[in-house]
Amino acid sequence: MTTTKEEIRKLFLEKRRKLDPHEVTIHSRKILEHLFESPIFYQAKHIMTYMSYQNEVQTDDLVSKAINLQKVVSVPVCNPKDTTLFPSQITGLSMIEKGYFGLREPKKEMIRPVDPKKIDLVIVPGVAFDPKGNRIGHGKGYYDRFLETLNPLVPKIGLAFQSQIVREHWHVSQWDIPMDGIMTEEGWVYKNF
Ligand SMILES: Nc1ncnc2c1ncn2[C@@H]1O[C@H](COP(=O)(O)OP(=O)(O)O)[C@@H](O)[C@H]1O
Ligand SMILES: [Mg+2]
Repeated sequence: MTTTKEEIRKLFLEKRRKLDPHEVTIHSRKILEHLFESPIFYQAKHIMTYMSYQNEVQTDDLVSKAINLQKVVSVPVCNPKDTTLFPSQITGLSMIEKGYFGLREPKKEMIRPVDPKKIDLVIVPGVAFDPKGNRIGHGKGYYDRFLETLNPLVPKIGLAFQSQIVREHWHVSQWDIPMDGIMTEEGWVYKNF
C-alpha cells in the first residue's frame, strides 16, 4: 500500500509530539555517541548541523563536541521569503537564539555566512525516514533546495529515533534529495558511503 507523504508527515509529527522528553534526551545521547565513533564524524573538518527544536534528535552536544575538536561548525539560517536556507558559522551555543516558529538560529548580528563548498558533512533533521535513505521534512522543501546545491560527494546524514523510521512505502518526488546515511539510537539503519 502506498501512503502519501502528507499523511506520513502528519502521523509522524503527531507521534514525535508525544515522545517522552526523557527518552528523547537518552536516545539523542546514544545517537550522538554512535556518530562520534564514526569516521565520517571524526574525519570531517567542517560540519553543518541543524539546531534541534521540539522533539528532534538533540544536536547541542554535537555542536560543542565538534567545536572542542577544532572543527568548523555551521548551522542553517532560514529565509522564509523564498524558503531557502544558508549555512552560518557558529563558535559556540551562546550565539544561538529562538527565531521564527521557535527555530533556533544565530542571533542576527552574529550571522556569518560560509561558502557551502567548504562543508564536508551535513547533519539533516527529518520528520520521517525510510530504511533506504528517503526523507520527509516539514513540507516546505528547505533541505531539498539546499542539498541539491552541494557536491553530491558530501555525505548527508539524517538523525532520527527508531520511531521515525517508516515501514510504509511513499512516492518519492523527483526533487527529494536522499540521505547517504541514517543514524538512530540503534546505530546505522542506512549507510551508503
Ligand atoms: N529543489 C527544489 N526546487 C524547487 N522547489 C522545490 C525543490 N525542492 C522542493 N521543492 C518544493 O517544495 C515543496 C515541498 O517539498 P517536499 O519534498 O514535500 O517537502 P519536504 O522535503 O520538506 O518534506 C514542494 O512543493 C516542491 O515543489
Ligand atoms: Mg522533500
